[in-house]
Amino acid sequence: MNSFEIIGGNRLTGELEIDTSKNATLPIIAGSILSDETVVIKNIPMISDALKMLDILKQMGSSVVLEGNNAIINNSSLEHFEIPKELESEIRSSIFMLGPLLARHKKARVAYPGGCDIGSRPIDLHLSGLKSLGVKVEETHGYINCETERMKCGIVHLDFPSVGATENIMMASVLSKGRTTILNAAREPEIVDLARFINSMGGKIYGAGTSTIEIQGVKKLHGTEFRPMSDRIVAGTFMIGTAMTKGKVRLTNCNSEHVYSLITKLHNSGCKVEVNSDNIYIECNKRPTSCQSIETQPYPGFPTDLQAQMVALETISSGTSIVTENLFETRFKHVPELAKMGANVWVKGRMVFIVGKRNLHGAEVSAGDLRGGAALVLAGLAARGTTIVSNAHFVDRGYENLDEKLLALGANIKRS
Ligand code: EPZ
Repeated sequence: MNSFEIIGGNRLTGELEIDTSKNATLPIIAGSILSDETVVIKNIPMISDALKMLDILKQMGSSVVLEGNNAIINNSSLEHFEIPKELESEIRSSIFMLGPLLARHKKARVAYPGGCDIGSRPIDLHLSGLKSLGVKVEETHGYINCETERMKCGIVHLDFPSVGATENIMMASVLSKGRTTILNAAREPEIVDLARFINSMGGKIYGAGTSTIEIQGVKKLHGTEFRPMSDRIVAGTFMIGTAMTKGKVRLTNCNSEHVYSLITKLHNSGCKVEVNSDNIYIECNKRPTSCQSIETQPYPGFPTDLQAQMVALETISSGTSIVTENLFETRFKHVPELAKMGANVWVKGRMVFIVGKRNLHGAEVSAGDLRGGAALVLAGLAARGTTIVSNAHFVDRGYENLDEKLLALGANIKRS
């Protein structure tokens, strides 16, 4: 059951409510460590990365109860400050626990993080930021030991607007005595959501969503009930799938502002896109025109997490395209797999060159990472014949019941 079997050619039509964001939920689960009172995170996406993060908290001694999609967490019993290696190695986002563990307990021990194989995924910006706030960092035998007498305040400048480093440093600073400033902070909406979550616990974070974030330390954070934002990458994935199948889909519970870079691209490729306060309608009646050039950038630029899906779209669009991946050096595992489906696509350095063709054909392909796997599913929807996408577990990391959702929109897809 670790594959998707797709018979291509059906249009996606209908309406779909977008789930809660993986990339907002994961740091928020870690951020719950900042309080020893009960924290309820509502409408958690039932995806493996989120469930694994909750497992890590449980293994560290916290109380975690899932009631439907609501996670009821109490970290007052958290007594281990080492993230279990067997869980840590599977998901990179466990690194988000560094900051809150240091803020609450002044120590943390993590293994070098795992995650999708899309690049080296260093954490030098996380560690240099924490060091500048008085944290002693020792790296031995693949583990990182962090300790501090007291988190200091100060100014942290990030060489690159790293999402994870911004989130870790923000969380490390919320209980410090004084004011910390992050310069060249990442501006992703998930950071705004994390700040909203922490402020709902009594934190004082200002400027999230801009390049300068100010954190005024407070003595203590109380419990909260919080529903994270919806998943802009899941929304974008379905928008691209609609374009690829010449469908008509309304996506609800999504914020069009978060996907405006994609909306612009799809509009220019000939799709009709209507945006409303909390929903997006997309319709595509003819073969899309190629976007010609797409460059992934930090938010609000075009998101790297939609790069693979856009490459899939471009393989069947009319014209040629160059897609440049500026954030992760090897986020191209989907390219040779798309070529197996007949796509004219190849990688040179950080660029993907594509000569669109009217149809792909079904093939047996394998997912190599989360978003690349989703891109292969989209290609299968548009291809002639049957496509088998193996390693579906990669896709399950970030998409809840992707096959069921696509089936409900008219796709011919099943797990096999
Ligand atoms: C977050 O990863 C997301 N993950 C990623 O989504 C997303 O692709 C990425 O941000 C960029 O938007 C979560 O939020 C859980 P970064 P993160 O630190 O924090 C370099 C998905 O598919 N860098 O912003 O790991 C790094 O090598 C996932 O949902 C350093 O050099 O991303 C990369 O080139 C994949 N040193 C760039 O920054 C560091 O210390 C962006 O990384 C940290 C990062």
